[in-house]
Amino acid sequence: MKPPYNVDVDSLRESPTRAVNRIVERLKREGKDVIMLSTGEPGIPPPLEVRLWLSEALKEESMRLYSYTPSPGFLSLREAIVDDLKDIGGVDVSVDQVVVATGGQATMFSTLATILSPGDEVILMDPTYFGYWNLLSYFKAELKPIVASLDKGFQPDVEAIKESIVKGKTRAIIMVSPDNPTGRLLDLDVAKSLSEIAVDYGLWIVYDEPYKTLTYEGEHVYMYNLAPENTISLNAFSKDPGIPGWRLGYIYGPGWVMKKIALVSEAITYNPPSVAQHLVTVYLRNRELRKRHIEYARSVYMRRRDVMMEEVSKISGARYIKPGGAMFLMVDIKDIVEPLNVDCTLLTEKLLREKLVAVLPGEFFGKSTKNFIRLSFPTETPERIREGVKRLRELLEEIEEKENKGIKRSSLFEASL
Ligand SMILES: Cc1ncc(COP(=O)(O)O)c(C=O)c1O
Repeated sequence: MKPPYNVDVDSLRESPTRAVNRIVERLKREGKDVIMLSTGEPGIPPPLEVRLWLSEALKEESMRLYSYTPSPGFLSLREAIVDDLKDIGGVDVSVDQVVVATGGQATMFSTLATILSPGDEVILMDPTYFGYWNLLSYFKAELKPIVASLDKGFQPDVEAIKESIVKGKTRAIIMVSPDNPTGRLLDLDVAKSLSEIAVDYGLWIVYDEPYKTLTYEGEHVYMYNLAPENTISLNAFSKDPGIPGWRLGYIYGPGWVMKKIALVSEAITYNPPSVAQHLVTVYLRNRELRKRHIEYARSVYMRRRDVMMEEVSKISGARYIKPGGAMFLMVDIKDIVEPLNVDCTLLTEKLLREKLVAVLPGEFFGKSTKNFIRLSFPTETPERIREGVKRLRELLEEIEEKENKGIKRSSLFEASL
């Protein structure tokens, strides 16, 4: 007889980027060259200087790079983070308010595990980063999605948020800025209103800011500066300096709650990876190098973003906002696909299999974006971005020409909201 298991696990789903990557891997094995416009994967490695530092450190006959570390991270790294936050964002926190974790996903998990009880209501944007839909269901939260529309630049609707709050039941607002999947930066006015709401109603703002240094136009708002008692900030080193596979991130917030988050974090992984902590400490401590790298990454990604916008603009009927930050273009193709009765998820599958271009369907980010596709621009060169978007345009034109109504659903994307 099969022993039972915790059925809450069934609310977890494979992320769409993993689903796409599985297929890409297979296509690559068949010798096919896929243009990757699907993942938020940095296209440039960390600065050479820190990689050279690491290659020297690897020669040491010591346990320095391999040992356990304190569970909230090395003190030297947490000090470097405190100084970095002060320098780039004017954020005033002490080392006791910082917990280093095993990547951005782990910061989400330990924070939600700490602040939520089953049945708590959580307000989140529709669309938002796909990781939240799963995780909130797993923690048995009641989801309250509030549509952030393209027509309003994907800015949160403050009045709608306020109206959806139920005193004593609503626990948190989740906000991502610069945003995944839309690339919008939170307006300062909106951020101020949200911080006032959080303070008035005694809510948490879980502020997810892994792209905070990747801004192209406009300034990133540091929510903690507006509502220090109510903000828990989630951060990752996956995007800057670009070590997603090395799994490192950090959380900061009010000291009392960080103590609890640290316990959850310790219970999951004991400590974050030692090598990644050393590397990032060197990176953050070398201020000149850090600033140079941010400027370089921004300029490379901005050029890629601009090329992508230029190409997408050639698709008649496609709509998007210019992303002020992050790594994505969220493209509304409703006016193209609806008249043809084409399902966007199936379209992305067709694009991958027939044109060898990977993008993500909008439905994974929220119901309101089921006729959108998310294109990411940091990974590929401008030439390949041009080619990828051109193939998308060609596919849409082919479908339009054939008036091909309804492509059969297949099982590529098993996960859905
Ligand atoms: C908004 C947001 N939060 C969290 C994460 C997870 O970060 P990580 O890749 O470091 O686990 C991502 C990753 O893309 C993200 O875009």
